[in-house]
Amino acid sequence: MKKILVTGALGQIGSELTSKLREIYGSDNVIGTDIRKIDGQQEQGPFELVDVTDGKQLFDIAKRYEVDTIMHLAALLSAKAESFPKVAWDINMGGLVNALEVSKNLDLQFFTPSSIGAFGPTTPKDQTPQDTFQRPTTMYGVNKVAGELLCDYYYHRFNIDTRGVRFPGLISYVAPPGGGTTDYAVEIYYEAIKHNAYESYIAEGTYMDMMYMPDALNAIIKLMEADPSRLVHRNAFNISAISAQPGDFANAIRKHLPDFKLSYKVDPVRQQIAESWPNSIDSAAAANEWGFKADYDIDRMTKEMLEKVSTKFNVKQ
Ligand SMILES: NC(=O)c1ccc[n+]([C@@H]2O[C@H](COP(=O)([O-])OP(=O)(O)OC[C@H]3O[C@@H](n4cnc5c(N)ncnc54)[C@H](O)[C@@H]3O)[C@@H](O)[C@H]2O)c1
Repeated sequence: MKKILVTGALGQIGSELTSKLREIYGSDNVIGTDIRKIDGQQEQGPFELVDVTDGKQLFDIAKRYEVDTIMHLAALLSAKAESFPKVAWDINMGGLVNALEVSKNLDLQFFTPSSIGAFGPTTPKDQTPQDTFQRPTTMYGVNKVAGELLCDYYYHRFNIDTRGVRFPGLISYVAPPGGGTTDYAVEIYYEAIKHNAYESYIAEGTYMDMMYMPDALNAIIKLMEADPSRLVHRNAFNISAISAQPGDFANAIRKHLPDFKLSYKVDPVRQQIAESWPNSIDSAAAANEWGFKADYDIDRMTKEMLEKVSTKFNVKQ
């Protein structure tokens, strides 16, 4: 039976991943940790306050619960990292090396997500290959490339079973996104339900990869359970479901809310980050090596997002 410690468990991914892992492996076998607490969290299963920049604290909790896996999600995301680059370095790199050291010392399986932010302006923009130029120009991107290499290093040098994916922008309705460049693709659904209108900070025609959260969670679980002998790559697999620009979300929303209005007020910082990222990435290596497949396209996701956000705000569509 698996016993998993999740860092950053209260974030956009962690809050849903922790619940899903508890459904699969049992509540007591999934230890949620974060630097902050939310009321009610403790009732769903074990939860501990852990600052990932404190390696000893992380080690002590992992040892006390006798976990066999760390899923390391604690991080500062792209837009926030550009506002606080040194803090981002300390959390993203300091936290990662601490989590890898704990995995090495306790011989744990290890997962952490990289991102489409690990690519940069010199990366081929369309159907970006698994192995290609990675010269990002953001602190977040620098952290993600360094992180991919560090995870590979711990695998080759110490034989730690490290695995990871490059997530695209993730769209979900449970926990709010944490300050990334693709957050507009979540906000647009909330604003559609609340005001039937959205002002996008990303310009018309700017394509980025996206994925609905259920596909992202399934990908993590599938990769972690994959036969290691089939994995040529480890850190980190390109995975994507949707390549879209703001107008594509508006068109999908209008199938349910015909009067929905989209306008633009571009934020230069996030726009510049978006333009340095691919338009679409090629997930073939993930499909071939561990059977990655996304179930949601933009229309199926939009229908469900509008239903879930309406329910959340008690609005009749
Ligand atoms: N959400 C996305 O669209 C997306 C896309 C690509 C990659 N990723 C990656 O997935 C991972 C999780 O992302 P997310 O969207 O859930 O982020 P998030 O910002 O929603 O959550 C991060 C969590 O980490 C916690 N945290 C911050 N500093 C900490 C510290 N020092 N110690 C312990 N916890 C700390 C925060 O309290 C928060 O709950 C990150 O590595 C991120 O780069 C996310």
